[in-house]
Amino acid sequence: MVESSPEVQHGLQDVVALESRICFIDGHQGRLIYDGYDIRDLASKSNFEEVAYLLWYGRLPTGDQLAALRARLVELRQLPAAMAERIDSMPATATPMDVLRTAVSELALFEPEETRPGPSSIGGAQRLTAVLPSILGQFHRRRAGLPPLTTRPDLSHASYLLYALLNRDPSELEGRALDVALILHADHELNASTFAARVTASTLSDLYSAVTSAVGTLKGPLHGGANERVMELLDEIGTPERAEEVVKSKLARHERIMGFGHRVYKVEDPRATILREWSRRIGESKGDLHYYELLRKVEEVVHREKGLYPNVDLYSGSVYTFMGIPHDLFTPVFAASRVAGWTAHVLEEYQDLRLIRPTAKYIGPTDLPYVPIAGRN
Ligand code: SDX
Repeated sequence: MVESSPEVQHGLQDVVALESRICFIDGHQGRLIYDGYDIRDLASKSNFEEVAYLLWYGRLPTGDQLAALRARLVELRQLPAAMAERIDSMPATATPMDVLRTAVSELALFEPEETRPGPSSIGGAQRLTAVLPSILGQFHRRRAGLPPLTTRPDLSHASYLLYALLNRDPSELEGRALDVALILHADHELNASTFAARVTASTLSDLYSAVTSAVGTLKGPLHGGANERVMELLDEIGTPERAEEVVKSKLARHERIMGFGHRVYKVEDPRATILREWSRRIGESKGDLHYYELLRKVEEVVHREKGLYPNVDLYSGSVYTFMGIPHDLFTPVFAASRVAGWTAHVLEEYQDLRLIRPTAKYIGPTDLPYVPIAGRN
């Protein structure tokens, strides 16, 4: 593996690539701020629609502005009929993140650029944020044999997402838990998928292409895909008594324990702190603390053995599992939230455009003589 050197910051670690007003992470204090507001305040007092407005406009909405955004997001939930047919034609066994990446890309075919809101407008951001739950619901309902999706104007964004996936209205506790999870996942500075979106936008490519890049990037297990693998680990461990043995054997094989560690946080991810409490609350409400207790034990072992802290992906899956959301929809749920942050960063990139193009330190040979193919062996 190429090591970092004075010229090369492997993985662009600690490289400050640009200025942004959207998100601040204090990795040493464990603080996360969206446009000046601490995530703990937003998680306890706000809602996803209000946070999306904050990310896009840089300020909290008035009552009228929030009402107008909610109404606009409801209008934009509707999939074009031809797009719904395209999703229905996708293999029921397809990976949902592949479906999402494909559908976002294909949606552009039905909403040609000349009719789409211009790059600098927030219309495209609102459209993609509103329609992602519909894409996921259209796909999952068909593979699960659930009734056709309706846009349910009576439901908030978080409740619509749960209804779209599970064909039922969430309880008040579930609806609030999912709304908080969407707030927590909405943005996170220059994480890999947001950076991918900004690189795409920096070439003046369009918003749908930028979000397609981001979805493909979020899928990776070192990034958004970790939440699904945490549940696989919990199912492998089975009981709190086996946690020590299973985790230590993985660490001995230099395997990564999903849901732990972070490039920026040197202490506990503040989102994990909040999701841990929601995992306990939801588990208690269901009379089942199995996953919560298992996660607490895994946390204890990983911190003792490796000094690592949990990140946002450790507890989110236990919250979604209690709601009945299938494991392979966890990362798509992450995407349904992060699309607000991706699009906010794309709009910011358009407003202060500079082609993102770093360089590489060349380590190969130079001046090799060209040998005709007959003379090669
Ligand atoms: C997200 O960037 C963001 O903001 C992302 C995100 C967001 O909101 O967008 O926060 C969402 O992606 C959270 C992270 C989800 N991924 C995981 O949970 C996968 C497991 N975590 C690791 O792969 C890792 O911690 C990363 C990828 C998250 C960060 O890796 P880094 O910064 O490149 O750190 P590293 O790989 O250089 O590890 C440093 C040391 C190594 O030890 P040594 O080999 O030097 O002895 O810590 C060890 C690593 O082996 N280590 C782990 C570990 N994470 C780091 N060891 C075991 N399990 C882990 N999870």
